[in-house]
Amino acid sequence: MNKIDSKLGRAALFSFLKEKSPLGPLKILANHIGYFFQIPMPMFKPYVVFGAQANKKVLVTERDKVLWRNTDPVTDLLGQGVLIVDGDEHDHYRKLMEPSLHASRLPEYTASMISQTDRVSSQWRDGEIVDMLVESRKIALLIIMDTLFSKDVWDDLDKIWKPVLKSIQYISPGAWILWRKIPRFGFRKPLKELDDYLFGIIEERRKKKDWKVESGKSDLLQHLIDAGLSDKVIRDQMLTMLIAGHDTSTALLAWTFALLGQHPEIHQQVVNEIDKTNDLERVPLLDNVIKESLRLYPPIHIGNRRIAQEMDFDGNKIPKDERLFYSIYLTHRDENVWENAQSFCPERFSSGKKPAGLSYVPFGGGPRVCIGATFGQVEARVVLSYLLKKFMFEFTNHKIHPHMGATLEPRPGVMMKVKRRKLSVNSNQYKEIK
Ligand code: HEM
Repeated sequence: MNKIDSKLGRAALFSFLKEKSPLGPLKILANHIGYFFQIPMPMFKPYVVFGAQANKKVLVTERDKVLWRNTDPVTDLLGQGVLIVDGDEHDHYRKLMEPSLHASRLPEYTASMISQTDRVSSQWRDGEIVDMLVESRKIALLIIMDTLFSKDVWDDLDKIWKPVLKSIQYISPGAWILWRKIPRFGFRKPLKELDDYLFGIIEERRKKKDWKVESGKSDLLQHLIDAGLSDKVIRDQMLTMLIAGHDTSTALLAWTFALLGQHPEIHQQVVNEIDKTNDLERVPLLDNVIKESLRLYPPIHIGNRRIAQEMDFDGNKIPKDERLFYSIYLTHRDENVWENAQSFCPERFSSGKKPAGLSYVPFGGGPRVCIGATFGQVEARVVLSYLLKKFMFEFTNHKIHPHMGATLEPRPGVMMKVKRRKLSVNSNQYKEIK
């Protein structure tokens, strides 16, 4: 492995200051060193790998040599959540949750995706400038709570907004990376409020013994209750799904609006495509735009692992207990794989061209691939097509940079002037979408 000398260190630092994000230095280190390097921070020296070959090792062939569970704040927050447990415990929770996120459930979730999008967007005044980062979060939050827990949080948005943002901030990178035990103020109260809210939902449901018969449906929450899990473990899974299932979609929607705003020609082509069809199974350009948005700005830009057994990447060894990141961002921006890797170019996904192996991993891969991958993609397609059909979006041309929070977010936001279009939307067209 090439070492990081002082010249390279300076270039990385300069790029950090210029791009206001650690993604700049990561690109510099990847360009100068290659597919394997170590970040020499004081007290924290994670290894970084990227590219199809390394991804395959971490996600598939040698996945038994890594652990998902770490000692980060995310572990403190999510407890026994499916995202951060290993082995049989993980497989048990995952198996319990998969049916609720299976593609066959998607048609019934579509109605909720539309009505929640409609609720949020009906608040917009004609000609108003809205922040699509904030609006996307409202939509995604309403959708995840309604579809998985049958909880309408519309009237509670004000109450849970800050606790939700605080929980995301709690697990976002910060000084705790270098000093794990650094005192963290301002979290205890909002995190407790969010916990109380989730425990309240569980309690309410437990009291309704005939809920399934009366409502004529089932949902993830009911499934977890029927499986005999304790309130604490159900809370862990709910919070995991709440965060993993809405912060990612928020970022995807917001980045897609930003990219469309920055590329008016493609934006117009997408609008034309949506206007022409009543069949949301056939919106190839929109689908390619979503795929390209996930390539350039993958909401989860790294996978975080702890080495359980020494690993070897082309002769570079990582000892047990070290930290390993597989970088989705660097994988997606690899010039050796992607033509014009840094450019927004949705047509690269056209005519069914499939990226080779694990060189495209917005949802991870292997047995622990994102459980909500289909949900997230259908949601993006439904929400975007609905909004683009109902509104004209005009980008205000401000500067945006990727911010490394729990997800990769467009900061300071995506400010769009919205104007209602004359076209009416036939909501039947969304019903059969899968
Ligand atoms: C655009 C949307 C989404 C993106 C880009 C995304 C991305 C990812 C990625 C990259 C992973 C694997 C991380 C790793 O290897 O360390 C993952 C795992 C996961 N995602 Fe998603 N996700 C999205 C939507 C969702 C939704 C909607 C849900 C829930 C409804 C969800 C729940 C989860 C869970 C529970 C895991 C852990 C799975 C396991 O370890 O077995 N995600 N996601």
